[in-house]
This record gives sequence, structure tokens and C-alpha cells, in this order.
Amino acid sequence: MTNERVTTGIKGLDEMLNGGFLPNSMVLVRGAPGAGKTSLALQFLLHGATKHDEPGLLISFEEFPSSLHRDAESLGWNLGDLEASGKLHLMFTSPAVLLASIESPDSRLNQLIQDANIRRLVLDSISHFDCLTSDEHDLRHIYTSVVNGLRREGITAMLLGEEGRADYQRTSKGGISFIVDAIIMLRYVEIDSAMQRAIVVLKMRGSDHAKEIRRYEIGSGGLTIKNAFAGREGLLSGASYRTLP
Ligand SMILES: Nc1ncnc2c1ncn2[C@@H]1O[C@H](COP(=O)(O)OP(=O)(O)O)[C@@H](O)[C@H]1O
Ligand SMILES: [Mg+2]
Repeated sequence: MTNERVTTGIKGLDEMLNGGFLPNSMVLVRGAPGAGKTSLALQFLLHGATKHDEPGLLISFEEFPSSLHRDAESLGWNLGDLEASGKLHLMFTSPAVLLASIESPDSRLNQLIQDANIRRLVLDSISHFDCLTSDEHDLRHIYTSVVNGLRREGITAMLLGEEGRADYQRTSKGGISFIVDAIIMLRYVEIDSAMQRAIVVLKMRGSDHAKEIRRYEIGSGGLTIKNAFAGREGLLSGASYRTLP
């Protein structure tokens, strides 16, 4: 049981993850706005809820449930049915309230996680904690509290991280990359004057994972992972160039 992987339901991604996440992993999903972080996270929750009987909770600081319903609908998913059956819970709150909830054992959040037997959780997005402090140390402390609080619940969590298109090289703010167990990065890359989407697993503690960068598309049904980029360098910088054969 403990070695069983937590699958995302996204075929190529589960392959890249050597079968899926290790249970109770804290996973950072980094990417620019529009990269597909929320879509990927919803797919992860829906897969758990429908295929593994694992109830999910999405905590959003930016999107009201109504807006999430609409986004999900454009991907072909009906969140209402899952909510009605108790397999999916959507919570709209603020970073300050969430932080206080995580730190207090009898908060509404902790009650919900217990009562609804939440197994998968998504936090959209951790970048919003930036507004609580301008001090790097404080931010690191906040991230550590959040991650440790979620770890204690025994769930598998996806933390979404907003970044600018040129932020890929910068060490993430507050050292979140060092605290999490796995990192998935979504990028826009320019190939021959057209934008394509690229996905890569940057880190997975306690497990091997694919090092390749693969294409993906977003459409009805969510993310579809395509082939690896071959004969290209500089993909993660956003501007790729062909390598000589
Ligand atoms: N049905 C669809 N067909 C094609 N693309 C879609 C569809 N629904 C959403 N998208 C694309 O998905 C992206 C939105 O992804 P989202 O998960 O909201 O990104 P993020 O959370 O990283 O900002 C947008 O770029 C949008 O163009
Ligand atoms: Mg989003």
C-alpha cells in the first residue's frame, strides 16, 4: 500500500513520474499564467475522485467556485456532480485565513479534511502567500508551515506556483523548491516562431523520474502529453534552437 503510486491520470505524465507520485508527496507545479496549472490540478483531483475513490479538495485564492466550474466545463468536466457526491470540495479563501487554519487542529479546514476523508488536495496558488510578507525568511517560514501542515494530514498535495515567463532560472522565492518532494514545470517554448507547451519533471525525492522535456496540449479532457522534444537545446529558457545532427 505504501509503495503504491498516486497517479495523475495523465498518461504520459504518470510515465514521466515512474508510475505517479509517492503517497503523501508535496508537489510543486510551476508555470506562467495560462500554462495549464489549474487544468492539470483539476485533472489530478478528478482522476482521484472518479477512478480511485479518493475525495479531493481544491483551495483557491483567486477563482470563485463558479469560475472554476466554467473553466472545468470548457475542458469537458462537470464539477457539480462530483461536488454533490462529496468526491470534490471547492474552497475559496484568503492566504491569511488558510495559514491560520492549517496551524490550528480544529479549524474548519482540518475538520473538512477529516470528515470528507480528503486524500488529494490542491492549493491554487502558493504565490499568493507572497502578499503576506516582503521578508524572505518569513515567507520561507510560511511555506514550511503550510507544507508541514499538509504533510501531517497524510494527503498528496499539489501546490501551484505562478511565475513569469522569464523566471525559470531564478531560485524560487522563499525556497519552496527545497521544501517540496517533487517539482513539475510547465513552460511555453518558442519553436520556429510558434509557441508550444513543454512539461518536465525537475525533481522527485525518493524516486527516479524521466529527465526528458515533452510537449503537451490542452483541450477537451485536459492535458495530453505528446512526444519529447528531440534535437533541441535551450527549451527551458523559452527560446530553443536546433542542435546539429
Ligand atoms: N477547451 C479548451 N481547449 C483548448 N485550450 C483550452 C481549453 N480550455 C482551456 N484551455 C487553455 O488552457 C489554458 C488555461 O489553463 P489554466 O489551467 O487556467 O492555466 P494556469 O492555471 O496555469 O493559469 C489557457 O491557455 C487556455 O487557452
Ligand atoms: Mg490557474
